[in-house]
Amino acid sequence: MSTLKLNGQVAVITGASSGIGAAIASRFAAEGARVLNLDLVPSPDPAIEHLACDVSDHAAVAAVLAGVPVIDVLVNNAGVAHIGDVEGTMPADFERIFRINVAGVYHTLHAVLPRMRVAGRGVILNLCSIVAKVGIPERFAYSMSKGAVLSMTLSVARDYVDKGIRCNCLCPARVHTPFVDNFLAENYPGREAEVFARLESAQPIGRMGTPDEVASLALFLCSPDAAFITGSAYDIDGGFTLLR
Ligand SMILES: NC(=O)c1ccc[n+]([C@@H]2O[C@H](COP(=O)([O-])OP(=O)(O)OC[C@H]3O[C@@H](n4cnc5c(N)ncnc54)[C@H](O)[C@@H]3O)[C@@H](O)[C@H]2O)c1
Repeated sequence: MSTLKLNGQVAVITGASSGIGAAIASRFAAEGARVLNLDLVPSPDPAIEHLACDVSDHAAVAAVLAGVPVIDVLVNNAGVAHIGDVEGTMPADFERIFRINVAGVYHTLHAVLPRMRVAGRGVILNLCSIVAKVGIPERFAYSMSKGAVLSMTLSVARDYVDKGIRCNCLCPARVHTPFVDNFLAENYPGREAEVFARLESAQPIGRMGTPDEVASLALFLCSPDAAFITGSAYDIDGGFTLLR
């Protein structure tokens, strides 16, 4: 018998061409899963199959997933950021964050859940954030979106608990990915190192998380080891929420 934790499973991961999603995809593939990556751009890892798709497009997500006969695991990871308080958030900013971070999660859930329900089994993991639980300065639209991800996680966990489907989410604090580097380059040109150090010290543990650390928790939650866990929001935050 195989000791691989996802042996023979089909895992759909959104946004798996970079950062946290890429680390989860590589880890799942190493544990025996066939990984399908719904992303705008291909993955650098040749073991990860790319299905070109904009998750904010309901019809595109439905069409691309219709061609996948069995889906055992869904990881909703694709997400984008926006910096600004209410006054610094224009309607186009708000709508963009909503379309990708909120509606994007709904679109994959809507495509995948009917099939998991018929199969009588399935695991869903959503990438939320500590911003769903604590107020972070100038993250109005982003926090709105992650609050919705947390609520969707609880709602799906409740509705499908008797259908063999588990649904959880992860709430990371700062994780060092291109997401962070792009954010610094765009918002703090010339001050990247200074702001990077500040972002590191925001975690009481004294550094950012790594994508691999998030992938380890994702693997646990999507594996049979977590068979008793549903409707949970797991902090992975270097103590960020500890002192609040
Ligand atoms: N990095 C952090 O500090 C951090 C902290 C908490 C939560 N998160 C969440 O983790 C997730 C991944 O973050 P990351 O830091 O790895 O980001 P990243 O920017 O490194 O990667 C995001 C990936 O999503 C893809 N993507 C973006 N828009 C898309 C769309 N419309 N359709 C399909 N794919 C799209 C990108 O091409 C990219 O491959 C996000 O949901 C983010 O909100 C990140």
